[in-house]
Amino acid sequence: MGWVTIRVNRNGVLRSYSVPEGITVLEALEYIDSNYGEGILYRASCRAGQCGSCAMTINGKPRLACKTKVEDGMVVEPLEGFNVVEDLVVDRTPYYKKIQGLRNYLHHEGDIPKITPEDMREFKGVRNCIDCLCCLSQCPARKFSQYPGPTFMRQLARFAFDPRDREDRERIAYFENLHNCTTCAKCVEVCPKEIDIVHRAIERLRELAFEKGYYLKNHLVVRENI
Ligand code: FES
Repeated sequence: MGWVTIRVNRNGVLRSYSVPEGITVLEALEYIDSNYGEGILYRASCRAGQCGSCAMTINGKPRLACKTKVEDGMVVEPLEGFNVVEDLVVDRTPYYKKIQGLRNYLHHEGDIPKITPEDMREFKGVRNCIDCLCCLSQCPARKFSQYPGPTFMRQLARFAFDPRDREDRERIAYFENLHNCTTCAKCVEVCPKEIDIVHRAIERLRELAFEKGYYLKNHLVVRENI
């Protein structure tokens, strides 16, 4: 069996460990804890890329530890853009609070309209999120403005596309700084579920918001110039 050395950022200090080659980062962390008695703290649950809890920064990029194989010289760090609780565990509380505040449930009243295959197609493209928060860790608009981050807009879009939902999701998105997104597509690049948040959520939401009258004055100027 071959060996590789990985480095783990433990509260600001990089520690090196030899682990068997060919295993995942998650298995390596388990190996380190049981063979070196280290007690590194990290989150994981499904081990199959479905729960999103094992997201961390691996070689400078947000990745799922259960889906990433170890490489020699690899650096494993906590997910960027969040406060570190301990070792590789970051504080997700602000995310949960914010998503709750967006009325994260189907809000309907009276007769419930039927969903058409077109509706299905539209919201299917944005509903596979596993809450790994990789997109939030990379979003420059979230870093430098009051923009909450890609997955919030994706979730608002998911409801906006659903004819059963009666909440004015476009209005919420608009006042949550929908237009601060730079469409840089960093979120798309790092999403383990390959959700095209820019085209399937942000741009569609902007379109729907415009139709409802939620737009910036400059949009009209641009339209007139065209
Ligand atoms: Fe669930 Fe990795 S442990 S996604």
